Amino acid sequence: MTRRALRVGAVNLAQGYPDFPAPTELKEAAKRAIDEDYNQYAITHGSPNFRAAIAAKVRSYNKIECDPDRNVTVTCGATEAMIATLLAVINPGDEVIIFEPFYENYGPDVVLAGASARFVTLRDPDFSIDRKELEVAFTRRTKAIIINTPHNPTGKVFSKAELEMIAELCKRHDTLAITDEIYEHIIYGGAQHISIASVAGMADRTVTISGLSKTYSITGWRLAYTIACERLTSAIRKVHDFLTVGAPHPLQEAGAAALKLPPKFYTDLASMYERKRAMLLGALTGAGLKCRAPQGAYYIIADIGHLGFSDDFAAADFLLDQVGVAAVPGSSFYRHSELGKRKIRFTFSKSDETLASAAERLSKLNERIRGRRTAAALS
Ligand SMILES: Cc1ncc(COP(=O)(O)O)c(C=O)c1O
Repeated sequence: MTRRALRVGAVNLAQGYPDFPAPTELKEAAKRAIDEDYNQYAITHGSPNFRAAIAAKVRSYNKIECDPDRNVTVTCGATEAMIATLLAVINPGDEVIIFEPFYENYGPDVVLAGASARFVTLRDPDFSIDRKELEVAFTRRTKAIIINTPHNPTGKVFSKAELEMIAELCKRHDTLAITDEIYEHIIYGGAQHISIASVAGMADRTVTISGLSKTYSITGWRLAYTIACERLTSAIRKVHDFLTVGAPHPLQEAGAAALKLPPKFYTDLASMYERKRAMLLGALTGAGLKCRAPQGAYYIIADIGHLGFSDDFAAADFLLDQVGVAAVPGSSFYRHSELGKRKIRFTFSKSDETLASAAERLSKLNERIRGRRTAAALS
């Protein structure tokens, strides 16, 4: 959708990356690191400065015991962290549980690692977990369950009770939790981010993945990490070494500076996104789309079932070509694609100008739909 949006000059609310500048402190730190000649490979599992800063943050924010030498592996993005983890822990014939809708990489990652995926649906309208359905998904062969909180694409923030239920099943079935927490600082209102590794008995059976892409608006820097017990970390480090050797050294030094930003940076980040969420919600509901405010992350799923399109792809094509706004068809987030046929995902990780321009275009949606109906009736 990003490539198509560029081609037709549409406002790109499809891909979740910021189109506004990164914090000045980070850019200055990166320039300093280059001037100081951090030009060669870092230690493959991460520069000592960066790992020390990550461990300090993980202990205070995520409430997970963490030693930079035994528990941290720096990777090229959360993308590498997930595939490195799966390649490290999966044996042929293993199964991995994935909640749907899902972030698109998890299914292919599981296949590449040689496992098969079992899908558990987060149920509309609030994307809740059906305990029975989850229990049935656990089998003798379940090696891991992938969690993503705050969740892309729904904005769900997993509650303590949900994480405790998952933890109980992991312990009962000797299963690992692999949790992608890349949006951990982008949460709204009363929602609270909880890491499943901090739930009793889970520290040694959890791989926590997070990174700097979303929190610091630097998706192109490719900085992320895994936190796991020593045994799992040792396996992940081996795979990581052969996959990528390491993340860019000067940017890791800048990453250490990023993690030391004061608490105000994170409250400002959440308030900025809360404001952008209100802008996009206003634009979507004003255009007659049905949607709920997400509790976290920076996406809104809108229901387009009542607009008369044959499916989500037809609606996304129309939005792109006739309205000039790019969004992602909902079925691309589902294994059972029929569950996403009434849905479409928009991101609000964009500048106020971009969001205002999208709002202006979306305000013409109904007029364009009426025009389409008239044209169809006449033909
Ligand atoms: C849930 C989730 N995990 C991981 C990523 C990718 O993270 P990274 O840029 O660190 O590879 C994204 C990007 O959209 C995402 O939404």
